[in-house]
Amino acid sequence: MTYQKIQVKQLSGAGGAEITGVDLVTADDQTIAEIESALHQFLVVTLPDQPLDDVQLARFTARLGAFGLEPFVEGESTHPNVVAVVKEADEVKRLNFGGRWHSDWSFLETPPSYTLLHARELPPFGGDTLFANQYLAFESLSEGLQTLLKGQQAIHSARRPYGPQSHNANGKHLRSMKIKTGPEALAEFAHPMVRRHPATGRSALYVNPVYTIRLQGMTEDESAPLIGFLSERSVRPEFIIRVAWRPNMLTIWDNRVVQHLAVNDYDGHRRELHRTSVLGETPVAA
Ligand code: SIN
Repeated sequence: MTYQKIQVKQLSGAGGAEITGVDLVTADDQTIAEIESALHQFLVVTLPDQPLDDVQLARFTARLGAFGLEPFVEGESTHPNVVAVVKEADEVKRLNFGGRWHSDWSFLETPPSYTLLHARELPPFGGDTLFANQYLAFESLSEGLQTLLKGQQAIHSARRPYGPQSHNANGKHLRSMKIKTGPEALAEFAHPMVRRHPATGRSALYVNPVYTIRLQGMTEDESAPLIGFLSERSVRPEFIIRVAWRPNMLTIWDNRVVQHLAVNDYDGHRRELHRTSVLGETPVAA
């Protein structure tokens, strides 16, 4: 793949790329198309030195597609489709937002294709975000397990983090986050365990330990060993892309083919990033 409008530098063996030579406020259509091509090639892209406010972040997001839904986090007053991901300095020994491996809102019928996260305030160390390449995770499985999984659907639900019995509903969440919980989190949706990316045609594992609660037609107990095995397999070190944030950096990732986790290693320091997402399609089986 050759790029004319952007400079692209790969971040790790599993993918990820830093894109420079771009101003996202004034970018032309070819530049946007090249950023999207880089996303398809590298799964995660970082764009340093992009001092965007919420309106500019939302405007750029809309150039990638319609806004994704934000079912359990309230939007900002500056723009309803922008949510703040915040952990205050005094919020210590708490599960942070996005602190376990997941693919964004995979319990929706149409989970987001892309998520965009813009760094506003960063701790003096730590607070990186990890991504795991789910093409590589799928390709690492035996042919037998690949074939078995390709025929399976799994049930996704927001029940564990956002249901009435969740830690978020029981006051253990970060008070700085505008999290909503409720019975609507009990809804379930079945998705293929292996999905085909609409642009690349490649197959990716689509199972995550936060929202994938069981295999279709099986109980949670029966499903737990396989979901546990796949969750562990999905995040092998050689599948990882690590993003170390800098102020004003924008990172975009493709939820269809990566899981991610916000590393919670900066207790005592404040971290704030602003997030938008792009509406995806109903996952299609590989
Ligand atoms: C998220 O899961 O969207 C949060 C990621 C982060 O804060 O690094």
